[in-house]
Amino acid sequence: MCGIVGYIGEKDCFPILIKGLRRLEYRGYDSAGVAVFDGESTINILKKKGKVEDLLAFVGKDIPPGSTGIGHTRWATHGPPSDVNAHPHTARFGRLAMIHNGIIENYESLRTSLETNGHAFVSDTDTEVLIHLIDEVQNRTNASLSDAVQMALKEVEGAYAIALVDASEPDMLIAARKSSPLVIGVGEENEFYVASDATPIIEHTQNVIYLDDEEVAVMHRKKGLIIKNLQNTVITPEVHALEMQIEAIEKGGFQHFMLKEIFEQPNSILDSIRGRVSVSRSEINMSGIDAHWDKWNAAQRIIIIACGTSWHAGMIAEYLFEDFARIPVEVEYASEFRYRNPIIRSNDVVIAISQSGETADTLAAIKLAKDQGAHLFGVCNVVGSSIARETDSGAYTHAGPEIGVASTKAFTAQVTVLTLIALLVGKKKGLLSTQRFSRLLVELKAIPDKVQKLLEQDARIKEIAGHFVKSENALYLGRGVNFPVALEGALKLKEISYIHAEGYPSAEMKHGPIALIDEEMPVFFIATADDVYEKIVSNIQEVKARGGRLVALVSAGNQELKQLAEFVIEVPKTDQALAPLLTVVPLQLLSYHIAVMRDCNVDQPRNLAKSVTVE
Ligand code: M6R
Repeated sequence: MCGIVGYIGEKDCFPILIKGLRRLEYRGYDSAGVAVFDGESTINILKKKGKVEDLLAFVGKDIPPGSTGIGHTRWATHGPPSDVNAHPHTARFGRLAMIHNGIIENYESLRTSLETNGHAFVSDTDTEVLIHLIDEVQNRTNASLSDAVQMALKEVEGAYAIALVDASEPDMLIAARKSSPLVIGVGEENEFYVASDATPIIEHTQNVIYLDDEEVAVMHRKKGLIIKNLQNTVITPEVHALEMQIEAIEKGGFQHFMLKEIFEQPNSILDSIRGRVSVSRSEINMSGIDAHWDKWNAAQRIIIIACGTSWHAGMIAEYLFEDFARIPVEVEYASEFRYRNPIIRSNDVVIAISQSGETADTLAAIKLAKDQGAHLFGVCNVVGSSIARETDSGAYTHAGPEIGVASTKAFTAQVTVLTLIALLVGKKKGLLSTQRFSRLLVELKAIPDKVQKLLEQDARIKEIAGHFVKSENALYLGRGVNFPVALEGALKLKEISYIHAEGYPSAEMKHGPIALIDEEMPVFFIATADDVYEKIVSNIQEVKARGGRLVALVSAGNQELKQLAEFVIEVPKTDQALAPLLTVVPLQLLSYHIAVMRDCNVDQPRNLAKSVTVE
């Protein structure tokens, strides 16, 4: 939620900030703004409700000069999207400007006490309270700005990634973080970039530092970089080399990032498998499992914590772990788990799944489980993210940057990695026969080509989508591992097309949702060949008898359902345990095309943000 970017160096910073904001816009797009210091006396603040393009139209030709600046793209928390609530916010009559991602939980009491001391506020935001607090602390203590930032942050409860500029410190940019991401790019001599993720930095430098919680970085045009924690201890930063390629964060000829990312899946699934599977040796190697095998071997239970699409990947993993490794699994919404006083034991393995690695609820659930002695394993896409660092061990999904707010390739990469883990644990525990293990590895290796075959049906899927553009509701039904796929299909449709959609296990239909079926209702059935196929056919008959509009995903060659369904999409055959990696793809494409035909902004759906760093 919210993207922040900053620059200090010798270059004109406005174009750097704007380009950075465009890259970060997936994190929030309610308003955008910049503060550019002219190097002498004035910080020019330009901000506007709406997208980065609205900000640019507002700025017009009056580009503010300066080589120190900060920029922000907002996902509103405190106060509605408006020019006045847009960041940057200021104190000291515009001489101190700050951007912020996160939530200051005690902002109301801080605001009240600051008001008592004569501070006046123009916005509804917690950010304005924080910059006034820093100003107040500096006035009260006569400390340097960086010391004042440290002291003020000690008074703050909540999450923050901040960057600020001070008109009295022309050579300085300060940044700090706690529970919200922040990356520092190290450029030419004493040139620094700051951003919520590496995407605005990658084209300027490959050298980055991931700031840790409660660290304050002072970037100085003459003196370089100094990082201290809130206890005033100097931190020696570790400089990492970025592995990301610039092409990975551009649309590459596709109309939307979401479509590009759907089409990347043959490669991203392959990347999740690469280096981990040897079919000839019938082997899976995952260092995160091997290094902590004692924990996995002793596990009496696996608890999976995640949100949204990642939670759906966790639901699929539940079937796989129970089947392959015979370990009981509980799949929890991180947001519920953390407030439920859950029973966690030291022989539990807790798997946290997150594309961004920054989801606030998942992070909080991790901390809770860690405090109670469980072994924490992270399945994250973003390298160096908070969840990747907070967990005891883990496996990256290697899907590459996912920019579209609706998760697609990250989901299939998560399912791939979780499948590998379940297979590996099952094998190491001696519960999977060599034959079954080898057969599944061969099948898994064949999945990327099968996804490619599905993508070749895009034109037909688009045509089918055209029949449902005006629908108000939709039902998605599946069983076994395809039940979470039904949930995921429904989530994809609702988040980007704003059509109300629900996913159910198909046998549950008769316990209530069947009342919704009429001739207007599209029902998407996942009916690929598996142990419960015949049961699903009965459910399909029940919908047909009530006039519902049937779309069936079937295994290649299925003739039976062609007679029953209005539309049939053939899915290449695979082992039923791996079916989700295929069945989800047509559902992603259907949602995408329906949303585009409804004129929705698929990459930036209303009210959403890619990385949910607030509760
Ligand atoms: O980054 P995470 O995987 O932790 O994010 C979890 C959810 O916020 C995310 O999956 C969300 O549901 C997506 N918009 C789904 O497309």
